[in-house]
Amino acid sequence: MKATITLLPGDGIGPEVTHEAKRVLLAIAEFFGHQFEMREAYLGGCAMDYCGEPLPERTAQLCLESDAVLLGAIGGPKWDNPKATVRPEQGLLGLRKLLDVYANLRPVRAFEPLFHASPLKPERIQGVDIAVVRELTSGIYFGQKTRTSDTATDECIYTKDEIERIARFAFELARTRTGHVVSVDKANVLETSRLWRETVTQLAEREYPTLHLEHMLVDAAAMKLIQQPSYFDVLVTENMFGDILTDEASVISGSLGVLPSASLGEGHRGLYEPVHGSAPDIAGLGIANPIGAILSVALMLRHSFALETEAQAVETAVVEVMRAGMFTPDVALPEHGQVTTRQVGEAVIAAITANEAWY
Ligand code: IPM
Ligand code: MN
Repeated sequence: MKATITLLPGDGIGPEVTHEAKRVLLAIAEFFGHQFEMREAYLGGCAMDYCGEPLPERTAQLCLESDAVLLGAIGGPKWDNPKATVRPEQGLLGLRKLLDVYANLRPVRAFEPLFHASPLKPERIQGVDIAVVRELTSGIYFGQKTRTSDTATDECIYTKDEIERIARFAFELARTRTGHVVSVDKANVLETSRLWRETVTQLAEREYPTLHLEHMLVDAAAMKLIQQPSYFDVLVTENMFGDILTDEASVISGSLGVLPSASLGEGHRGLYEPVHGSAPDIAGLGIANPIGAILSVALMLRHSFALETEAQAVETAVVEVMRAGMFTPDVALPEHGQVTTRQVGEAVIAAITANEAWY
């Protein structure tokens, strides 16, 4: 197949991990006979430096004209002035809104070769495979903000339509899995959560009567995720709860560095990004974990291009590389030795091309 992909390496470790993800994409293209046309653009802090704004017009245009967008990470202390009115994050939020990618899929898995990196007991995380579905283009992230010297407000708005479309996404996904959906809210306090719960319940009764829908308050869900993570299959929630719960859930996998994400809208176009941030403390050292970015490529192959075999080729290779004990410092124990970002990328490519299952 032919596809156009825009790469947005961004800031901090973004360029390093995106580079390895790009090489994996090129290897997949060559190995499976696809044509991926790739171009790069600025987003976030680097865009503020070079173009004067976090989401330049050219970047927006290229992304709109692409089949998929792969993002590294944005932000860093350089642009972190609390008084600043323009921030790198606005570039990312603006891009999500522009592409209308309201459904953010964040798979959280416990990888057996990474059990050592999780503070949770192996028997507790064994077999964990959660699909977190985070609403991405509304809620408190996008409401009105006000600020005086001693008062600040952030408005949280959800409409029924916004809730329904994300719930439908989660339900459709649940149909391909165990059928258990936990919808997370704070309906004992928030009006938006009460509308959320009502809307999700009605949609389930109307269109998905065979699914097992359960509601959970966000504080209880935060605890349950650690206490009994295998309880969850599909977890659907609003924007900010999803942001917080996925960072928390990353301790199940062992490192935020290995979590990928896919942000999807109505068509096939998607925005793919590792869940981790720009990690300025290790930027440029070549030791960032590229697995989150590489697994995001797998999600791109699956969700934007419907290339399931290719997606599995990447995912299988990643697990093989972990099993071989090739770990970046975030997940390495002293006895493992440590490898670089580039070595992990190279090993993943080698594992893809060496696997006879794809011949
Ligand atoms: C994420 C990030 C972003 C978010 C920030 C950088 C705006 O934390 O993708 O999880 O909060 O959505
Ligand atoms: Mn986050």
